[in-house]
Amino acid sequence: MNIYAHRGNSGFFPENTMYAFKKSLDLGIYGIEIDVQKTKDGILVVHHDETLGRMFDGKGSIKKSTFEQLRELNLKDEELKNKADCKIPTLEEVLEFIKDTDLTLNIEIKNNKVRYKNIEKDILDIVKQYEMEDKVVISSFNYKSLKRISKLNSKVKTAYLVGPLTFKRRNLKKILKICKDCKCTYIHPSCDVVNKEFVAEAHKRGLLVQVYTVNSVTIMKKLIKLKVDGVFTNYPKIINTIVNENL
Ligand code: G3P
Ligand code: MG
Repeated sequence: MNIYAHRGNSGFFPENTMYAFKKSLDLGIYGIEIDVQKTKDGILVVHHDETLGRMFDGKGSIKKSTFEQLRELNLKDEELKNKADCKIPTLEEVLEFIKDTDLTLNIEIKNNKVRYKNIEKDILDIVKQYEMEDKVVISSFNYKSLKRISKLNSKVKTAYLVGPLTFKRRNLKKILKICKDCKCTYIHPSCDVVNKEFVAEAHKRGLLVQVYTVNSVTIMKKLIKLKVDGVFTNYPKIINTIVNENL
């Protein structure tokens, strides 16, 4: 069972910061999941929301901010706001950190609401530069983006993210066909949509199923019975214990 620290060890530490990533080490887990977007001046940065303000003391969007502007921002959290590890990181910083660990990095391209020109090529170039093609999985809710990835680089593994909205709009057969067309290795469904049929049909087509975001022990126990291949969780240490006790 592949366990990923979702946005880092984000149940206890500020999501998508180097601090949360460092706190994901030594937990005996498989990997870390991050969200990637691009700044106005073309820098790949790690942040979940398309806009600022939920976590950091800034306004506006990632797309319309320069990297320098983003780097000046501090967390709103009074206790953590001056911590060096709690700035918005670049993808490059995260790759540098992951490179010498046993962890796999799931890079989620956050391009389902905002489009970032050439973000797929930019990500692949930097992953290649770090010689980490076999250490990353690239995922997206935007299947066109996954198709681009597979055309640009057939070595890098990809995953199609399936949330409740996609599941409502397209039936399972169509979703699995998209995975095939995009040459995905994985399908990443939300825990709200995954069920026995979903896992069985995906497995039948050779797809590995990794479920997001699993923060409940009860749900985790159900997923173990469904024989899913991995999960994303904000509580990697707790979920890892459940997995070790129930497999
Ligand atoms: O990659 C899994 C999960 O992170 C997708 O949803 O909104 O948490 O990025 P979200
Ligand atoms: Mg994500």
